[in-house]
Amino acid sequence: MNSDIPQALRSLKHFLAIRDVDADVLKTLIDFSIRRKSEFKQGKFKPMWQGKVLAMIFQKASLRTRLGFEAAMVQLGGHAVNLDDQQVGITRREDVRDVARVISSMCDLIMARVFGHQLVVELSAFSSVPVVNGLSDWAHPCQALADLMTIKERFGELHGRKLAYIGDANNVARSLLNGCLKTGMRFVIAAPEGYRLDRGQVESAQMMAAKSGASFAETNQPAEAVKDADAVYTDVWTSMGQEAEAEQRAEDFTGFQINAELMKAAQPTAVVMHCLPAHRGDEITSDVLDGSQSIVFQQAENRLHSQRALLEVLLTNAADAKR
Ligand code: CP
Ligand code: NVA
Repeated sequence: MNSDIPQALRSLKHFLAIRDVDADVLKTLIDFSIRRKSEFKQGKFKPMWQGKVLAMIFQKASLRTRLGFEAAMVQLGGHAVNLDDQQVGITRREDVRDVARVISSMCDLIMARVFGHQLVVELSAFSSVPVVNGLSDWAHPCQALADLMTIKERFGELHGRKLAYIGDANNVARSLLNGCLKTGMRFVIAAPEGYRLDRGQVESAQMMAAKSGASFAETNQPAEAVKDADAVYTDVWTSMGQEAEAEQRAEDFTGFQINAELMKAAQPTAVVMHCLPAHRGDEITSDVLDGSQSIVFQQAENRLHSQRALLEVLLTNAADAKR
């Protein structure tokens, strides 16, 4: 069963951060996601995982992540259960160790969207089934996986391509940074003072870039960043959990909007990306989001295809480990 899963993926147990994933594993997972998407579109994909259950814990709101995982489980032949953390009460009502053990005894996979990244790390430590990070304050690895898949579909390769990220150095930016550098891309970030990547992150990015032939640069000039870029990317200025800072951030990010004027500084073949949800008129204008350079909705759809491929790999590896 599923013997066509590439050997390089057979060691993957959890998916918590792109930083933790070996470069070869990441590249293979991107290619595998593209292959499975094509098979799925051709009606060649067979649901092989009847009776398997994914528990989804949400401490924050979601459209794409929840729908992508739930639809993926149905397409794999299994089922997903939505567990709002208001009800579960991890750490408030129940210790994370007990939550992880109970879910592991009833379900085959855990996906968690959390505030503190440490919580997904702890879940994976105490769980006997694979754990996937569906976004933490620190990382959004499933988003980066779908984004890299989308860039590869568009350009046919990742190595040497340039991604310009305009805006907050947040969870999405950090995962993209690690993903771009592991796949040999050129990553440049334009962020205002106070919203830049932390220095430790920059140092490890530079070390990684030196190893993979990738490159990393920072600027506070969006027009400089988008020059020669193949992909121009942004995310919200205020992430979930930062709502109290929204007004200050709107002021601080003035000039960091992706709009038609900024896109004039990029090459005409550049694509525009956003993880969504977007705040139209803030970090990106509607004409650009809906324009011919935007691949934003292909990115969103690829959350489904890449997450289905990821779940298939994790289910296969967990089943093999039990044999
Ligand atoms: N991009 C993303 O993760 O979307 P949701 O927050 O809607 O899941
Ligand atoms: N940076 C955003 C991403 C949402 C998908 C947030 O954390 O809210």
